[in-house]
Amino acid sequence: MLNKNTAICLAVLCFVSFLFLFSRNSNCSIQDQYQYGMSLIQLPFFTNTTNPPMDYGRQKNPPTPPPPVVNFDDLPPEPLTPRPPPSKDEVQDSGDDEVIGGEAAMSYYRKLASATTNLGSNPSQKMQILAAYSYKDHFSAVISIAKKIGTTAFCRYIGADGKEVAEPVESRVYPFFVVYCSRRNNVTMLGVTGDKTEPISTENSAKLIRRKFKEYQHNVSFCLAPIYGKEPKWLHFVELVEHYKLQGVNKFFIYIREIGEYDKKIIASYVETGEVEIIDIPGTVQDVIAQQLMGVADCLLRSRTYSKWSIFADIDERLIMTDDRNTIDGFLRNLTDETIGSVAFPQRWIMKREHIPAKFENDAQVIEKMPTRAWHETTSAALKGHPVCNEQLSCWAKDIVHNEKAIRMLVHEVVQFYPGFQELFLDPSIGYIRHYRDVQMQSWEKNNVANLKKFGLFSNTTYPNSIGTKLLKNVLQRLHRVYD
Ligand SMILES: *[C@@H]1O[C@H](CO)[C@@H](O)[C@H](O)[C@H]1NC(C)=O
Ligand SMILES: *[C@@H]1O[C@H](CO)[C@@H](O)[C@H](O)[C@H]1NC(C)=O
Ligand SMILES: *[C@@H]1O[C@H](CO)[C@@H](O)[C@H](O)[C@H]1NC(C)=O
Ligand SMILES: *[C@@H]1O[C@H](CO)[C@@H](O)[C@H](O)[C@H]1NC(C)=O
Ligand SMILES: *[C@@H]1O[C@H](CO)[C@@H](O)[C@H](O)[C@H]1NC(C)=O
Repeated sequence: MLNKNTAICLAVLCFVSFLFLFSRNSNCSIQDQYQYGMSLIQLPFFTNTTNPPMDYGRQKNPPTPPPPVVNFDDLPPEPLTPRPPPSKDEVQDSGDDEVIGGEAAMSYYRKLASATTNLGSNPSQKMQILAAYSYKDHFSAVISIAKKIGTTAFCRYIGADGKEVAEPVESRVYPFFVVYCSRRNNVTMLGVTGDKTEPISTENSAKLIRRKFKEYQHNVSFCLAPIYGKEPKWLHFVELVEHYKLQGVNKFFIYIREIGEYDKKIIASYVETGEVEIIDIPGTVQDVIAQQLMGVADCLLRSRTYSKWSIFADIDERLIMTDDRNTIDGFLRNLTDETIGSVAFPQRWIMKREHIPAKFENDAQVIEKMPTRAWHETTSAALKGHPVCNEQLSCWAKDIVHNEKAIRMLVHEVVQFYPGFQELFLDPSIGYIRHYRDVQMQSWEKNNVANLKKFGLFSNTTYPNSIGTKLLKNVLQRLHRVYD
């Protein structure tokens, strides 16, 4: 039997010779794919409805850009020695509760709660908990029941012996799915109940996850909206992780509501390498938006002190810097304005006209079907403030959030910052989202195409060749490792 490395080398060799062969045979369908690629404009141009398309110094009828040659020999070698891991030292616990804007957090949140329009319901449903976090000056619980903001909840403090070690403390649900709790000593589990005498159970209590790192364990990590639905996920998922790894992201929190066995294998392989942590979303919330809000609330709290910035996005969204020599990590390092609490990347939807294939077959299949290679029809950027955005504050943008500067998030934006912080809505000439949106799901194209055109002309754009080649190589390597 071949060992795995030899097998991978052979596969890559075969693949390179295969490309070489086909580069001489113009009747081949793969070659057509490349020629098709050639007629595309690599850098997207932005038609700001009111402005003429931006001139990138190209001619109006652009000369044919170089074909996306796949030459694995030119790629830099993978770094062999990663930098030493950051220290896991913790800051000292504070004797006092968190203070926000000169006020105790508990009362600060109560004011915000009473000023917030409401979403949740389920007044009679018993509390259930998804996770609980321990910070230097407070605890927070994420509940898995869609209770209205402002609903009364009691914090319950449980010691190592399973007994309560402090009096229950009354709190309120704020933001959606979160209950803030004062800190107490000698607590290993946090419980949340609707009244102070309700028995503690495995449903309404959870072990505290410690989040008081002195040093960030990561500079940028990723929070994936809960995975659900029947469409196969393996190819989207591997492309997502490998895309963001090229952007300097090495940690992914993956929320799963439902997933097939085949798709789970690729996720499990990243769990093994420590790059992915899975958080199971229970079936307690039917509405998918509410489910996503639960994930968003949890990931913000889970990432605090652990990661400086988090990207909150879906499985089919690729945030990218428009100048492909830059990475997201590099861009965030460059940000010097400390008042920036989130960076909103504007949407450019790309029509994805087929489902992901059920299973990995071979390299040629991936070259043809990988979303970043297969789909090109792109909308103009959806800019904040455009009339089509309606009540969508950031016009369906997705955010990279500074986890210590944001209090309350919805799916598309931070709606409450800690005092003094604000959103930076990115100009699409700096960065944007390549959103490979399935056109059939919820009759999306049919229902939305007229409005999408109001953002400006559609154009054919490609994922940049410079990183596309590395992306393909990394995706194939991982797929062979998992499914061969
Ligand atoms: C879009 O238009 C606005 C307002 O005219 C302008 O401020 C902005 O710079 C434009 N952005 C691009 C990418 O053209
Ligand atoms: C409880 O916490 C206090 C303060 O951190 C500590 O001094 C004490 O030893 C703890 N007691 C137990 C039983 O762990
Ligand atoms: C985060 O970035 C800083 C400097 O920008 C660097 O010193 C540090 O090592 C990075 N941390 C991690 C975990 O990559
Ligand atoms: C960071 O800023 C420098 C200087 O303004 C610029 O040359 C570079 O392209 C920026 N890098 C990224 C990743 O944005
Ligand atoms: C994009 O490319 C396709 C296939 O070549 C073509 O049919 C379509 O008209 C192009 N769309 C735009 C907006 O250029």
